[in-house]
Amino acid sequence: MLHEAHLGLDPVQETLLLTLHARALDSRAPEPILGDALSAEFADRIDYDFARLKLKPSLVASTALRARKLDDMVRRFVTAHPDAVVLDLGCGLDTRVVRCAPPSGVDWYDVDLPVVADLRRELLGERSHVVGADVTQPGWLRDVPGDRPAMIVAEGLLPFLPGASFRTMARALTEHLPTGELALNGYTRFAAWAMKYHPTIKALGIDAAEGFDDPREPERWDAGLTLVEEQLLTRAPEVAAFPQPVRALTRLMSHSAALSRQGARVLHYRF
Ligand SMILES: C[S@@+](CC[C@H](N)C(=O)[O-])C[C@H]1O[C@@H](n2cnc3c(N)ncnc32)[C@H](O)[C@@H]1O
Repeated sequence: MLHEAHLGLDPVQETLLLTLHARALDSRAPEPILGDALSAEFADRIDYDFARLKLKPSLVASTALRARKLDDMVRRFVTAHPDAVVLDLGCGLDTRVVRCAPPSGVDWYDVDLPVVADLRRELLGERSHVVGADVTQPGWLRDVPGDRPAMIVAEGLLPFLPGASFRTMARALTEHLPTGELALNGYTRFAAWAMKYHPTIKALGIDAAEGFDDPREPERWDAGLTLVEEQLLTRAPEVAAFPQPVRALTRLMSHSAALSRQGARVLHYRF
């Protein structure tokens, strides 16, 4: 059992417990969307007052769904490129590498701040290359092969990279990696602003960074990114498994693209 006092996480790092808890709750739901029982196992091994995160059923469902959509993109990529490199940036304690079970020729890098990387090694062991680094500082990329197709995932990371740092990071990645895809959950400017009033984020005392509205904005980052698709998750078939009244509300929102964009959306680029 890992005790809260010994985790040594700052408020930004602590958000990994929020997504871990969401996946754990989803796995225990009557109709799980992601069905990640390993996340529930890890959450059980951490002595932390998860109740203080006040996770609402809507956040549990949308977190599970966005993880599922991102997993699908990774699986498709590694199937097409069994020699790929996968980078999960700001990986926290996510078990994506286990869920995606990539072919043996794939090199998978789970990257997060050093404290989190240590915790990850302790809980998950070495199921992937675990890199303890600040992703906004390009030095860590030196150890990542720069001659293979790459799938980059950044789930729940964007709001924690202030100013231009996400953009600068994207440029460094696409300069180092020859070709590949980037998938992230994209927060609009409003969603990023509204996050600071979210009870969970408020409880952790975090200032969220800026988001962007236009899914084509990253095409102007000078990082060679081209939009493949923007998925508005309110319109995903899996919403049928959302609990009520979240399902009804999500279906109502799905009629408006502008409203849906403020909720969970997954952005997919190639470079
Ligand atoms: C909301 S959590 C998401 C964790 C994981 N992707 C998931 O879905 O469970 C945000 C993660 O970003 C990490 N993070 C924030 N800033 C970072 C940085 N500059 N470099 C590396 N990781 C960072 C935090 O430590 C945390 O694990």
